[in-house]
Amino acid sequence: MPEDFELTSYDNLNTDDYLEHVERPLSWNNLYERPAMIERLPNLTGKNVLDLGCASGYFSEYALKQGAKVTAVDISQKMLDKLAASVKSEGLEIHRADLAQPMPFLKTNNYDCVIASLVLHYIKDWKPLLAELYRVVKKGGRVIISTHHPLATFNHLEFDNYFEFKMVEEVWGQNGPHPFTVCYYKRPINEILRPILESEFKVISIDEPLPNKKCKELDPRSYKRLMERPAFLFIVLEK
Ligand SMILES: C[S@@+](CC[C@H](N)C(=O)[O-])C[C@H]1O[C@@H](n2cnc3c(N)ncnc32)[C@H](O)[C@@H]1O
Repeated sequence: MPEDFELTSYDNLNTDDYLEHVERPLSWNNLYERPAMIERLPNLTGKNVLDLGCASGYFSEYALKQGAKVTAVDISQKMLDKLAASVKSEGLEIHRADLAQPMPFLKTNNYDCVIASLVLHYIKDWKPLLAELYRVVKKGGRVIISTHHPLATFNHLEFDNYFEFKMVEEVWGQNGPHPFTVCYYKRPINEILRPILESEFKVISIDEPLPNKKCKELDPRSYKRLMERPAFLFIVLEK
């Protein structure tokens, strides 16, 4: 049996296909997920930020521009190479690691903010990861998470069983020139809430924000869809 990270790592993709898909101006990342994440971030100036599942580093770059120091972590060497090639900063530290395992290279009580944008659905068991994040976050520090909304996965992939918790495969970019396949965990809402409520973090918010006005102006079709069907769930935790 392969380890989970061998299936979920973006080293399995043509990373140029992924970036072409995700960095389109009208991708749901740009129209919806990134603005919603940014709205939830605290002021990052002078702060220590941990970017989990950093990929090619959209949020690492964002945090550096806000004046933060950033530790970026991903399992994909190809993605980390892209980040290292495009972002040159003394404030950036890069690590290749599996988020399902302990991360002893992260200092205890060190981070003001953890950004986990669209990465937790690649991790089966959130309990040890949340315990590790509790260790490395400073008192009062926050963890900002976006993840696939369970209903989005259920409707979109047309499963018979909403409650089934399992690794699934999905083809992304089907309307574009270079579709590619990703593997991630589909889980019911209870498997999101339970590890969060059992963690030591205080829950600040768990929500399904609606798309903003800019999304409406730029892409009315995506706006209408996102107004009717949730795509991602956003969670804010505090130590
Ligand atoms: C959708 S991308 C994240 C997007 C990125 N945060 C952004 O804002 O552009 C998911 C990332 O999670 C990484 N990943 C998947 N499984 C992982 C694991 N077990 N440990 C660490 N990173 C993982 C992938 O390699 C990929 O780079």
